[in-house]
Amino acid sequence: MHVLITGGAGFIGANFVHQTLRRFPEATVTVLDKLTYAGNQGSLEGLEERATLVVGDIADADTVDPLVAQADVVVHFAAESHNDNSLNDPSPFIRTNLVGTFTLLEAVRRHKTRFHHVSTDEVYGDLELDDPAKFTPETPYNPSSPYSASKAGSDLLVRAWVRSFGIEATISNCSNNYGPYQHIEKFIPRQITNLIDGVRPKLYGAGQNVRDWIHVLDHNDAVWDIVNKGRIGETYLIGANGEKNNKEVVELILELMGHEPDDYDHVNDRPGHDMRYAIDNTKLVQELGWEPRFTDFRSGLAETIAWYRDNEAWWRPLKAEVEAKYAAQGQ
Ligand code: NAD
Ligand code: TYD
Repeated sequence: MHVLITGGAGFIGANFVHQTLRRFPEATVTVLDKLTYAGNQGSLEGLEERATLVVGDIADADTVDPLVAQADVVVHFAAESHNDNSLNDPSPFIRTNLVGTFTLLEAVRRHKTRFHHVSTDEVYGDLELDDPAKFTPETPYNPSSPYSASKAGSDLLVRAWVRSFGIEATISNCSNNYGPYQHIEKFIPRQITNLIDGVRPKLYGAGQNVRDWIHVLDHNDAVWDIVNKGRIGETYLIGANGEKNNKEVVELILELMGHEPDDYDHVNDRPGHDMRYAIDNTKLVQELGWEPRFTDFRSGLAETIAWYRDNEAWWRPLKAEVEAKYAAQGQ
């Protein structure tokens, strides 16, 4: 089996490359990644024998076409992925998430290649804190930010290519991931690396916003289950019942790193900040038999903290620039 993994030098994609090579000893992988600020070749260290990195743009048809032609399956992670960046400059989000996905769809249409599209629960907008409902595959799309709108648009392109052209595709919408190799601009690794540097964690607004945390390895196991057993044309929601508000997460990181629970700063809130995400994973669990392995957030977080402590060389070169950017925004 030869797997084309777009965005395989990013957080979730790199974990997926590692997992794929472990899970399928005969498999080979090509990673197509533009190595934007979010990509890190170091995340693929040691895998060179079975994983080839092609540095290129998913929106470039000449790059994409021969790679899709060689693949048995394409798993598409590449995206601009950070909400805060999309508020400062939406343009790369439109090009990569929409034009990039379109370019891949045209190639899989030509070569009749199995395609899996990795997306986010943020396409559904947000829930009220006291809303008894969670997101289901039937929830109407209602994205709030340029990031989530561009991901919503990419999902709709995939659905249209299934219906109009009969491509063999599936879609997954997952909740917030945590784990190793996550870029330090994101919430959890930002606070961990701040504390390693003796800087207080930064909480947007009052910290009441809720995210539904899942370990990245659980997300990726579900993606393989969908690729192997999912029904073509279907959308599966991936989540592990991990709702926590941001204040609780910061307090837990502080405790695990030996600090007082109130040793953090409130900073400027994100404009249009989604209040709550929550996934109903019934379809994935009942239809495909998926179950999360990381059911204890505390120990998953402790392992993640240990990874950032042990891998300072991986994130250190990024830290000063990320923090300077946030400081300029009062965050
Ligand atoms: P990331 O930002 O860490 O990685 C994205 C990768 O894509 C990077 O390696 C980057 O270099 C690459 N890339 C960007 N533009 C490209 C282009 N034009 N051509 C080729 N490569 C390009 O993102 P992530 O957190 O790993 O997210 C991966 C996917 O999972 C995204 O599609 C995202 O929407 C989705 N997702 C993420 C989360 C989360 O919590 N991080 C949750 C649900 C879904
Ligand atoms: P983030 O990791 O950017 O993911 P998303 O926007 O996709 O949910 O942020 C997670 C939550 O943490 C979100 O509610 C914003 C908040 N946040 C902070 O409170 N402080 C921070 O420094 C960052 C980066 C995010």
